[in-house]
Amino acid sequence: MADNIGNKAAHDYHLDVPAVQEGFYVKGNAHCAWGMKNRLARMFRPQSGNTVMLAFDHGYIMGPTAGLERIDLVIPPLVPYVDVLMGTRGVIRSCISPTVPAAKCVRVTYDSTVLYDDMSNGGGIACDIDSAIEMNADCMAVQTFIGAPGESRSLELLARTADAGSRYGIPTLGVVAVGKEMARTEKFFLLATRVLAENGANVVKSYYCEGFERVAAACPVPIVIAGGKKLPELEALEMAYRAIQEGAHGVDMGRNIFQSDSPAGMAQAIGKVVHEGYTPAQAHEVYQEVKNQR
Ligand code: R5P
Repeated sequence: MADNIGNKAAHDYHLDVPAVQEGFYVKGNAHCAWGMKNRLARMFRPQSGNTVMLAFDHGYIMGPTAGLERIDLVIPPLVPYVDVLMGTRGVIRSCISPTVPAAKCVRVTYDSTVLYDDMSNGGGIACDIDSAIEMNADCMAVQTFIGAPGESRSLELLARTADAGSRYGIPTLGVVAVGKEMARTEKFFLLATRVLAENGANVVKSYYCEGFERVAAACPVPIVIAGGKKLPELEALEMAYRAIQEGAHGVDMGRNIFQSDSPAGMAQAIGKVVHEGYTPAQAHEVYQEVKNQR
């Protein structure tokens, strides 16, 4: 059994060697079934291999987050600029048209709300596999709490969701939450992202950090990065750019899009970085142009 003390530190990430891909472009998913690959191909554009996911699930623990007071008004205009909509089934069902062409990533677990001091004590299933199929979900997102009291419970929910997902060809997105005792370090993200992939996640959502190149290299499935708290637009574009250059396969971004003074401008600018390799400065011009059109 692997133990915690006296291990040799991992160090050889072969950063100059691309991940081995055998016949399918979404990292680590070549051996999955056709339906799973078809859904992954709806999420990750074949042309770039990357994805822009728009996260608007914040209300599942926070209630009406700034910028998401009226999801029915804020999110639909952004749909043309993103590949995946990430939300709870309650909000997707009530605020998003079933005619929407974007893929849907449904958050399938619940957690304690922000009213509790420690939200990371482990939640439960909010949307079971039958409901995910009924929603025609392209992906199921599970929150996990590595290094926190809810670690074991959340890993079980991840594994059970991945079991159900592999039966029906629906990928599982493992979401790394950073508990209040954890620091956002390379060491933490190396461990957390790898643990999620090893427990069945087809895709991992995490955060950008120093040393991200090693985190991405050591994770056998694609990592998409969350945006986190609202940054000035150029800084958010710089973070997305660095993440893509260092091995991320996209973003799952919320506040840095819908809290921008031009959500449509930011969604388009992020898309340019993720899919077309625009530099932050070039993408910022896109944001400014769209903003000035108003
Ligand atoms: C957080 O609880 C939510 O799951 C969000 O989906 C996630 O944090 C990404 O959104 P943001 O870019 O606003 O951090």
